[in-house]
Amino acid sequence: MNPDTALFAPFACRGVTFRNRIMLSPMCQYVAEDGHATAWHRAHHARFALGGIGGAVLEATAVTPAGRITPGCLGIWSDAHVAGLAEIVGTYHDHGVTVGIQLAHAGRKASAAVPWEGAQPLAADDPRAWQALAPSAEPFLDGWPVPLAMDEAAIEAVIDAFVAAGLRAVAAGFDFVEVHGAHGYLLHSFVSPLSNRRNDGWGGDEAGRFRLPLAIVARLRAALPPTMPIFYRLSLYDGVEGGLVVDDMVRLAAALRAAGVDVVDCSSGGVRGSSGVADMPPAPGYLVPAAGRVRREAEVATMAVGLIVTSQIAAAAVDQGQADLVAIGRELLADSNFAYRAAMELGVPEAHKLLPRNYAFFLERRKLRER
Ligand SMILES: Cc1cc2nc3c(=O)[nH]c(=O)nc-3n(C[C@H](O)[C@H](O)[C@H](O)COP(=O)(O)O)c2cc1C
Repeated sequence: MNPDTALFAPFACRGVTFRNRIMLSPMCQYVAEDGHATAWHRAHHARFALGGIGGAVLEATAVTPAGRITPGCLGIWSDAHVAGLAEIVGTYHDHGVTVGIQLAHAGRKASAAVPWEGAQPLAADDPRAWQALAPSAEPFLDGWPVPLAMDEAAIEAVIDAFVAAGLRAVAAGFDFVEVHGAHGYLLHSFVSPLSNRRNDGWGGDEAGRFRLPLAIVARLRAALPPTMPIFYRLSLYDGVEGGLVVDDMVRLAAALRAAGVDVVDCSSGGVRGSSGVADMPPAPGYLVPAAGRVRREAEVATMAVGLIVTSQIAAAAVDQGQADLVAIGRELLADSNFAYRAAMELGVPEAHKLLPRNYAFFLERRKLRER
């Protein structure tokens, strides 16, 4: 029990108030059609809209067609994508949930098969395959296709695409945007010395490697309404010899804050292999302490993520000052009422009010009977 936890206190950020600190972590569904949201996305998000969370982040949504991970990824490269996204926004808003969208470019990990078809790169002669882009012509893993090293014009085009996508997110009614700078995708691949071998102004030293994400954030900040928060998801460490470590990412987080980021979403890994690292095997709440370091040392709000699977871990992350928000992925897939369950377990007063009236009325009566 921890009825005084701040986990269910509102979190205000620019013009937006999250009603509590529990967030749906962005999760690709791989069933978009030419980038468009489908009936699946509407049903999937309705589950979380009803379950008591404070906010949701829609899955990695590609700012250009080449920025999709798989042919099934959501897109926001065209005005035609806005209406389908707006329907999902409406579902969340109908139930008091704040909602953002993760703006993404897959970089050298693009043009892959969906997970249930193996998640490997599509064969060059597969009609669905496309050319992947990267800071340098270095494949993600041995056996992956060599990506095209981006020239100045390609880099400028990607910056413009993120800004155009941000404006479409405003048009769709999203409350905030999250820039995907983690998991080895394009922005992370510019930041990590393992994947950025450039020696022009977009690589080389740290300032060069940080330049693309900072340019995108600065341009987004200038283009978006001042009331709209910008989140940035980064990988706290690469977990590979010679790769990024938490110290590097504390400096990136501070620079992102100065460029206009409001919340740093603290994930890990992905620049080689999948997420998770050898020296820090994933365990419940394993990234929370490093999120705390970013919060203290970069003086920026953080969202912690990674196996936050119990109400106690979620509450402790917030109450111990490690994170302002906690993002939950798979545990919310397993139980879309995780926020309500957490509030009941912690003994938070009026936990039933996290649910829609149609459920809350009957569940509260049940609780009274049980007393
Ligand atoms: C099916 C699935 C899809 C995911 N898609 C994304 C994504 O689109 N963007 C992202 O940043 N992370 C993605 N992730 C990572 C999650 O957001 C989260 O960081 C990770 O699952 C760890 O949190 P958890 O232990 O609560 O699941 C995905 C994870 C899963 C399981």
